[in-house]
Amino acid sequence: MQKIYVHPIPVRIWHWINAFGIVAMILTGIQIRYAGLIDLLSFEVAVDLHNWIGFLLIGNFFVWLLFYLFSDKIKVYHPELSPMKHFRESFRQLQYYGYGIFKGDPNPHHVSAYHKFNPVQSMTYQIIMLLIVPLQFYTGLLLWDVTLFSGGVELLGGVRVVDTVHVLTFIVLTSFIFVHVYLATLGHTPTAHLKAMITGYEEIEEEPGQTPSP
Ligand code: HEM
Repeated sequence: MQKIYVHPIPVRIWHWINAFGIVAMILTGIQIRYAGLIDLLSFEVAVDLHNWIGFLLIGNFFVWLLFYLFSDKIKVYHPELSPMKHFRESFRQLQYYGYGIFKGDPNPHHVSAYHKFNPVQSMTYQIIMLLIVPLQFYTGLLLWDVTLFSGGVELLGGVRVVDTVHVLTFIVLTSFIFVHVYLATLGHTPTAHLKAMITGYEEIEEEPGQTPSP
C-alpha cells in the first residue's frame, strides 16, 4: 500500500465547508420554496440562514479558486490537449464506471500527486466549479436584493429569468451531489476517498506488475 498526498489543507477545508454549506442551502431553499407545506423552520429563519450561509459559501469559493490559481496544484486541472486522447480516456473511464467495475476490472486511472483526477472527474469538477456554482451564487446574490442589483437583474431578463436560472442550477447541483457521493465510495474501500478528503492522503493499492506513479 502506497500513500500519496493529494488534497492540500486549503482544499480540504474549502471542501467540507462547501459540502455541509451546500446541503444546508438545499434544505433551507426547499423550506423557503415550500413554506406552508413543510414547516421544519419558520420562513424568516430559513431565509436568514439561506442568506448567511450563501455569503459564507461565496467567500469560501475564493479559497478554492485562489489556492489553485496561485499554486502549482493547478496542474491537476490541466486539460489533455489531444482531443482524441481525452475522449478515449473519458470513454474508458465511463465504461469502467458503468460496466468494468461490476466485473472487478481495475480502475483505468492511476492516481499521482499531480494527476489525482481521471478526465471525467476533472471535466465535471471544472464545469461545476467554474460554471454552475458561480451561476448559482450570482443569481442568488441578485435575488438577495433585486432593487440594489436591478441592473444585473434586468441584464439577465428580469426576476423570473434569474429565479429560473437559480432553480435550474440547484437541480444540476443536487443531481451532481448524488452521483458525486456515489463515486466517492468507489475507492479500494468504500471510505478510502472520503478518508483522503479528511487526511489529505490517498491510499493506493499496488496492482501486480504496476510501477507506482511519481
Ligand atoms: C455532500 C457530500 C460530499 C461528499 C461526501 C464529497 C466527497 C468528495 C471526495 C471524497 C472528494 C475527493 C475526490 C474524489 O473522490 O472525487 C471530493 C472532491 C471534490 N468535491 Fe466533493 N463531496 C461532497 C459534496 C460536494 C459538493 C456539494 C461539491 C460542489 C458543489 C463538491 C465538489 C467537489 C470538488 C470540486 C472536488 C475536487 C476538489 C479539488 O479541486 O481538489 N463536493 N468530494
